[in-house]
Amino acid sequence: MGEGYVLKLDNIVKVFPGVRALDGVHLEIKKGEVHALCGENGAGKSTLMKIIAGAQPYTSGTMLLNGKEVVFHSAKDAERHGIAMIYQEFNMIPELSVAENMYLGRLPVNRLGKVDWNRLYQDAQEHLDHLGLPFSAKAKVRTLSVAEAQMTEIAKCLTIGAKIIIMDEPTAALAEEEIRILFQTIEELKKKGISVIYISHRMDEIFKISDRLTVFRDGKFVATKNIDETDYEDVVSMMVGRKVSNLYPVRNYIPKEVVFEARDITGRGVHGISLKLYKGEVLGITGLLGSGAVELSKLIYGAIPMESGIIMIGGEKKDCSSPKKALKAGIGFVSDDRKQEGLVLVRSIRENISMSSLKKFTRGVSLNKKLEMKCVQDQVKALNIKISSDQQLAGKLSGGNQQKVVFAKVLEADSDILILAEPTRGVDVGAKAEIYSIINRLTECGKSILVISTDLPELIGISDRILVMREGHLVLDVLRHEVNQETILAHASGGVSEHESGN
Ligand SMILES: Nc1ncnc2c1ncn2[C@@H]1O[C@H](COP(=O)(O)OP(=O)(O)OP(=O)(O)O)[C@@H](O)[C@H]1O
Ligand SMILES: [Mg+2]
Repeated sequence: MGEGYVLKLDNIVKVFPGVRALDGVHLEIKKGEVHALCGENGAGKSTLMKIIAGAQPYTSGTMLLNGKEVVFHSAKDAERHGIAMIYQEFNMIPELSVAENMYLGRLPVNRLGKVDWNRLYQDAQEHLDHLGLPFSAKAKVRTLSVAEAQMTEIAKCLTIGAKIIIMDEPTAALAEEEIRILFQTIEELKKKGISVIYISHRMDEIFKISDRLTVFRDGKFVATKNIDETDYEDVVSMMVGRKVSNLYPVRNYIPKEVVFEARDITGRGVHGISLKLYKGEVLGITGLLGSGAVELSKLIYGAIPMESGIIMIGGEKKDCSSPKKALKAGIGFVSDDRKQEGLVLVRSIRENISMSSLKKFTRGVSLNKKLEMKCVQDQVKALNIKISSDQQLAGKLSGGNQQKVVFAKVLEADSDILILAEPTRGVDVGAKAEIYSIINRLTECGKSILVISTDLPELIGISDRILVMREGHLVLDVLRHEVNQETILAHASGGVSEHESGN
């Protein structure tokens, strides 16, 4: 019956009020394979994963585990059947050790009913070692990097005996080097016969690690293919339903006047950085996690306080000590943390998009609702945001569509200088191409853009000039055609001597 599949889903339908998120989809998972699930934002990927992991009920369809029909009533229920999901918002307790987190609620006890600490640490360490993870089971979770915390979650899946591990955009919060470690871990899982269902909007990753892939479009099943029977263009056209050529637009930019200058910026993790941004330029900044690149952007738009340094816009010193003041001074931003700084999840999509630009819609004291609605509609259309109405709450959107709303809000505010931190995180290829071409058009209209991205193909694809940071310092300042991924990584990780620093 199961035809050798550990997991087989048929005709799964999931209806939310007003949305048919899944419309009779199929998915077949083999033992020990990495199976990628691809689809545009809102295609239904996360919804299906939550169903498989027991976190969400489904409307109809069948789910076979090793040939036997199962229905899960909770995540615990699914875990007992060997299915675990790595969530992006980690569910760990920072003050406890790695081992305690791995065995939370299942701590081993001795004959006296007391926690058997020796066994706990030993068992946990064994799992970590098995996966080749370089940290101690005794380390407190709060001391771990994001990547290490994620590895701990994976190790935890092993302790519950998971046979299928679901990873929904696991690399979204990881930098290049950490992604490499994650991939090694996935290889180890495969060797143990564990299947991994892998979701990502980064095509290069999918082709690097998966054995097979399945594509959904608008809640419908499109196809399942072996990775060697398909290629980038094929997958993209299955996802989008049309061809997307030229992800990155051609840029012909010539630097003339400096519009923005940061001088000697110092603050959390950033040490005396100076940089200039030219009119019409796309300046890319990157670095490994902890390099200070994201912090630098936050210092500039006032989300974290500067210890010293000044911001000049159009040759004048400006007060950008809070995001509000920065916006007033002409700096718009997309934060890398959309839930904290970008989006109000309990407000409507319309409110979210227009909130930074209410002035534009206000005459005297009254809000011009018609104009507001029209502008919001234009943005929704331009970015192809999948919503049922602009009154829908932002929190109910799929991850990528939330990111598009953040982007729409920034566009609507129409600032001359834009700071975009990981602007396409979680965004599908079609929309990525759209965002890149919008960036291009904006710079053609004389806007200047600072992009912080750990997605190196993207960074190289869209920037005119690239700055690389390491440990709070600038270690490289080059034009885009002067570098490749390897050079950037070498500088970011300190693999080469600093011959060019500052600017
Ligand atoms: N709790 C919910 N209530 C209402 N609609 C929802 C809910 N969760 C998801 N949806 C809708 O279901 C559809 C599928 O969403 P899902 O999160 O599965 O997409 P996805 O493929 O994971 O997209 P992304 O790549 O952006 O993460 C979307 O239209 C979304 O708005
Ligand atoms: Mg999703």
